[in-house]
Amino acid sequence: MWFFTSPKIAFGEDSLEQLSTVEGKRVLVITDPVVSKLGMLELVLNELKKEPRAIEVFDQVEAEPSFENVEKVAAVASRFQPDLIAALGGGSCIDAAKGAWVLYERPDLKLDAVSPMTKLDLRKKARLVAIPTTAGTGSDATWVAILTDKAQNMKLDYFASRELVPDYSILDPRFVLKLPKEATAYTGLDALDQGIEAYVNQWRNDFADGLALRSIQMLFEYLPKAFDDPDDLQARQKTQNAATMSGLAFSNSQVGLAHATGHALGAIFHMPHGVAVGISNPYVVQFSSRDAADRYSDIACVIGIREESAQKATEMLVGSIKRLMAHLKTPLSLHEAGISQSAFDDNVGSLIEQTNRSTCTFVNPRVPDAEEIRKLFVCMFEGKPANF
Ligand SMILES: [Fe+2]
Repeated sequence: MWFFTSPKIAFGEDSLEQLSTVEGKRVLVITDPVVSKLGMLELVLNELKKEPRAIEVFDQVEAEPSFENVEKVAAVASRFQPDLIAALGGGSCIDAAKGAWVLYERPDLKLDAVSPMTKLDLRKKARLVAIPTTAGTGSDATWVAILTDKAQNMKLDYFASRELVPDYSILDPRFVLKLPKEATAYTGLDALDQGIEAYVNQWRNDFADGLALRSIQMLFEYLPKAFDDPDDLQARQKTQNAATMSGLAFSNSQVGLAHATGHALGAIFHMPHGVAVGISNPYVVQFSSRDAADRYSDIACVIGIREESAQKATEMLVGSIKRLMAHLKTPLSLHEAGISQSAFDDNVGSLIEQTNRSTCTFVNPRVPDAEEIRKLFVCMFEGKPANF
């Protein structure tokens, strides 16, 4: 059975005001040290205080949150007993909140025991509102949280459940205005890849297709504008909306191989998710085009590429992605990202193993074997086309 899941989404200028209407007498705000210092936490607290409520703040979420970090948040939740959890921040904060929410409601569960097959029975104690401060992961609209298992030096990518889709997502453009240029670039590339992979993977469907195509179109148009002029409110708003649309698209479809390689690169080389996925994207399009050129040519079409041959249109799409990355000054290869030959050689075995195990790999339009994954990583490292 397939059904489309979405939070209630408030969007546009001053949409934060919707927060004061969300029910909750005890609110746990989960954020990170950077966001809490930029004045955004204050805006959220002021809005929450329009109603009488008890409020607790946890502001120590780490980047790419580990199990231990999530357990710390959960300990605060079980002490404070919130009936509303407000996640304020990028994907890391929202994902940590999702993890802590599960442990708070289900202390009998371990994080690595949660998968789409687990019945969680959430919302007996609290609901979740997400207020993203990046325009990228779309975690405010998705059913998944990416948590890092430090003991195994890998990212868990099956911590997912329909029940984890937040109840509310609030997309107020004020919250992304302060996003630094570099983070604007790489979180935007993550959103772009999510849109592309949602559209081509084996679980694609009509409902996700529409959101995916429009998010891709909006990102090609507005991401360079948001990067060039960080104060361009329209560009900020459009990229913010596009990121959540890409999240909705892939959460109701899936991502694919670029997310599998991206998670492996992130876990092993500690690269930000958007950088790792951004680098992977054009190589995975080239590799997958043998089995999905017609889908990639649809994408090429919505960004204005007019070409009859689907294969040629796909090549032109790859060119457009690379030009966008060059505009955003993000690395086009692992070598450009600062990975040395010896670091690559030492870790390529683990990269292959983690990619091979990822659920994102099995839904890619072309499913690689281990040798093909190795070749793909070599192409990504050297910056050579993945035409094999
Ligand atoms: Fe992503």
